[in-house]
Amino acid sequence: MNGTINIEKELLSFIPKDDKLITTVLESMKYSLTAGGKRVRPMLALEFAELCKGSPEAAVPFACAVEMIHTYSLIHDDLPCMDDDDLRRGKPTNHKVFGEAAAVLGGDALLTLAFETILSERAVKLNGFEKCVKAGRLLAQCAGAEGMIGGQIIDIESENKSVSADHLKIMDSKKTGELIRAACLLGCISAGADEDQMKAAEKYASCIGLAFQIVDDMLDVLSDEATLGKPIGSDKDNNKSTYVSLLGIDECRRIANELTDQAIESLSAFDGDTSALKEFAEKLRDRKN
Ligand code: IPE
Ligand code: IPE
Ligand code: MG
Ligand code: MG
Ligand code: MG
Repeated sequence: MNGTINIEKELLSFIPKDDKLITTVLESMKYSLTAGGKRVRPMLALEFAELCKGSPEAAVPFACAVEMIHTYSLIHDDLPCMDDDDLRRGKPTNHKVFGEAAAVLGGDALLTLAFETILSERAVKLNGFEKCVKAGRLLAQCAGAEGMIGGQIIDIESENKSVSADHLKIMDSKKTGELIRAACLLGCISAGADEDQMKAAEKYASCIGLAFQIVDDMLDVLSDEATLGKPIGSDKDNNKSTYVSLLGIDECRRIANELTDQAIESLSAFDGDTSALKEFAEKLRDRKN
């Protein structure tokens, strides 16, 4: 995996300069951005850029934009009106520190900053206008009502209900899969990948994206708070419909294995070195947090 780029430093470089009147919202943004996530999405963007013979450096603004949207989605996901969780990335959730209003606004500002970043002078200088427009359009689609937000509303409206496995597949593919798809494809776009490469990246992304949420649901049951950095049992407390509640842990493990194998298989379409992405898919399947 790409080790030379410091994602946290890059993320902070896009935060507006401090100004006394807006300090609270800037602090709210920085708090969650630097709370120490796994950086799965930026790593995927950089790795696909490299695999498609582009420059990971050029993909950095795109990688940061996806992580900003992901971080905002977590701030809002933890709010009392959503999953009502108090711990995230091993720290008190944003609204516990800054209050609900600043948490909502910090999330809103990260969402907006993502598009400012994709369209920044730096992004345009490194990638050209056309790729920035393509990347911005894709990210907006993946993050919006047809993508992550769509998945989140399905999630909320599936609480206290018994739903089918197909319904859960749609929900998980949207709420988690779509941002992972955006991450992989943004790396491809930065590198100027061709149609076949984009298709293969999309297949890899949709498999690891669904597997990622299934493993997340398993960890909510199997892990402990200290390892996970977020509360366990949150899904049960909220009467969430998940693959675990519907199919049980063993079947979830089987599906996660199968999806990971399919993701790895899709990498055969690339002629470069795919070992890092193969190991990444396995690492995500076997992760403990
Ligand atoms: C958590 O995502 C929410 C889901 C989409 C399952 P991550 O597990 O990637 O969270 P961080 O970024 O490492 O905190
Ligand atoms: C969240 O799914 C997916 C998002 C779009 C934020 P979860 O609600 O399961 O994520 P965690 O478990 O709180 O990280
Ligand atoms: Mg949720
Ligand atoms: Mg949650
Ligand atoms: Mg979860």
